[in-house]
Amino acid sequence: PYPMYDQMRAGQPVAYMEAMKFWSVFGYDDVRTVLSDQARFSSGHGHEASAETAAQKSAQANSGFSLITTDPPRHTMLRSLVSRAFTPKAVAALEPRIEQIANELLAPYIQSGKVDLIRDFSYPLPVIVIAELLGIPSEDRDRFKHWSDEVVASANAVIGEVNPESQQALMEMHAYFREIIAKRRIHPQDDLISALLLAEEEQQQLSEHDILAFCSLLLVAGNETTTNLIGNAVLTLLEHPEQWDQLRQDPQLLPSAIEEVLRYRSPVQAMFRTAKEELEIGGQTIAAGSRVVAWIGSANRDEHKFMNAHTFDITRNPNPHIAFGHGIHFCLGAPLARMEAKVALRVILDRLPNLQRINQDLLQPARGFIVHGVESLPLRFHH
Ligand code: HEM
Repeated sequence: PYPMYDQMRAGQPVAYMEAMKFWSVFGYDDVRTVLSDQARFSSGHGHEASAETAAQKSAQANSGFSLITTDPPRHTMLRSLVSRAFTPKAVAALEPRIEQIANELLAPYIQSGKVDLIRDFSYPLPVIVIAELLGIPSEDRDRFKHWSDEVVASANAVIGEVNPESQQALMEMHAYFREIIAKRRIHPQDDLISALLLAEEEQQQLSEHDILAFCSLLLVAGNETTTNLIGNAVLTLLEHPEQWDQLRQDPQLLPSAIEEVLRYRSPVQAMFRTAKEELEIGGQTIAAGSRVVAWIGSANRDEHKFMNAHTFDITRNPNPHIAFGHGIHFCLGAPLARMEAKVALRVILDRLPNLQRINQDLLQPARGFIVHGVESLPLRFHH
């Protein structure tokens, strides 16, 4: 997408996309404004989203977009409740366990010297982490993974088709979560659902529906994004072998390398908003109720903000990318995603020496225009 972004930033930084029926915003400052100016841009879907069918709307409602598609004051209340259960401290405590899971995932491939980084590693890793965070027992993990796939598929279907299997899976998943909630009410455990229930009891502001919606949102917001951050990191570092070596020699660079991957190949390329009123941005007048897409992937390559924006540099500093958004909806899972990526890269550096792509064919991009990554990444390695 990058040559297209460059062209748009240079010629039409705010443009109406006739075919898609939405406005697009490409420059760094404007994208930040669209993401964070709650007074003018709503995270809700608006009334004029004519491209969406009733089925798509119901899929959105089911898959529980509540936090991410809610405006203040309700957003403020929901966010403060869930972030209490989602603190950096809680995330840091997960590190040893994430490392263990990452090692377990790679173990079966060490002998053969071949692995599909996406299918075998970066895809299952975040699913398992979220399952554990929520306190899903390991014997239910396969069921959970199936539901997670379907929830993500139905979220992607916001811009495509919703199939009945996804709907079925969502209903099953909600029934399952309800059972877990009932159990945790009686016997709280050290997990996110128990923490949310506690918040519910104390505040009486969080309904069971809110908790279900939040659990589904974590699956949609946290899985494919993290898969692609890890995949994009390995892909980009393989394209820059000298920086791969530099990272191997100096693992202290891992956090800044991950920030640079977030900027250079942002796993979430775009977010939607709805204009609350008629407004002007970038010299264009946008009618009330219009859908507006903030192109994060373009903002993060804006030469006005980043020197040598198209150069990948793991030592880039400062790096004010907006891959996790900006403002009140700033990604709740950012500390978790950063940590998963750091642990994943560390384990890959340790266990998969002399890593190479198996074939240099064109890689299949991830579906849709919001998520940015590859469907599969076959690799070989040797000791
Ligand atoms: C919000 C990106 C991982 C949970 C967001 C937003 C972005 C984003 C751009 C802002 C949406 C907006 O402004 O409308 C990413 C990327 C990730 C990632 C690039 C990985 C590399 C995660 C993970 C979780 C998570 C691991 C949870 C387990 C959320 C939630 C929100 C959110 C709950 C909504 C916050 C709110 O509306 O207040 N994410 N995310 N994300 N993300 Fe992430």
